[in-house]
Amino acid sequence: MKAARAFAPASIGNVAVGFDMLGHALQGAGDTATVRLTTSGTVRVTAIRGVVADLPTRAKDNTAGRALLGLAKLRPGVGFEVELDKGIPLGSGMGGSAASAVAALVAANSLLTKPVPLETLYDLAMDGEAAASGSKHGDNVAPMLLGGLVIAPVYGVPVRVPVPSTLFCALVHPHFVLETRKSRAALKGAYELHDFVVQSEGLALLLAGCWQKDFELIRRGFRDVLVEPRRARLIPGFARVKEAALDSGALGSSISGGGPSVFAWFDSKAKAQKAGAAMAQAFRSVKLGADVLVSKVAAPGARVL
Ligand code: HSE
Repeated sequence: MKAARAFAPASIGNVAVGFDMLGHALQGAGDTATVRLTTSGTVRVTAIRGVVADLPTRAKDNTAGRALLGLAKLRPGVGFEVELDKGIPLGSGMGGSAASAVAALVAANSLLTKPVPLETLYDLAMDGEAAASGSKHGDNVAPMLLGGLVIAPVYGVPVRVPVPSTLFCALVHPHFVLETRKSRAALKGAYELHDFVVQSEGLALLLAGCWQKDFELIRRGFRDVLVEPRRARLIPGFARVKEAALDSGALGSSISGGGPSVFAWFDSKAKAQKAGAAMAQAFRSVKLGADVLVSKVAAPGARVL
């Protein structure tokens, strides 16, 4: 049987101002998928190992399985078996569900005589992630596929945004699980039009700052008035952790994806490293252990191993 292995990195969804449509890849954590090509016309999840093993193995309930079912449908007579090695903790806000779908798709696509284009992979990966999150959004899968900071539209090809080469991120993952479904439920209810305007302005400023390599513009844009206020209460110590980041010179700080990880951007690696330690200490002050990951924002995307 032909087989391939692929790795997909962790990611930060939303990036404060781009709810469900902006994300960036992270270096230092990710999921690996080993895929075998079969002629069964169907998909089997044969093993799940690593930091999370207790996940559904029925293909349509598993993010990688569901993504591969979509790919198999496009290539009649083709089937897949997949093994997952999970490197991203569950319910961490680091895109763990998305990474399995992306790694599986990238491995499987490399086995096809006629691989599908990026736009199709992106759409299938969003369908896969929806098996866990209950909603179709591309802010994790798009940066995992392309690497770096990426605009993830509902339809069509994702767009990579150039960023300054010294733009770094510190992500702090507190040791508790917050399910995406729960953190999405916290967002229900009406929003003020004025807040929507302020958020759009932030997104525009942050993107302009990235394109122009202007850290002050990024700093001006980096604040979430829509989502963070509703989710902050789900993360013990959030205000202290954010304050630690800002006190350490962050351009901005917010919740990574659906949380509970908190991240911040910096104009140098040294600042990100120092701030990461302070942010983890802030979580410890509310009796939560935490891991720190420092990464370039322009981190690499998924690759066949
Ligand atoms: N954009 C998503 C959210 C990321 O914030 O709910 C988590 O899948």
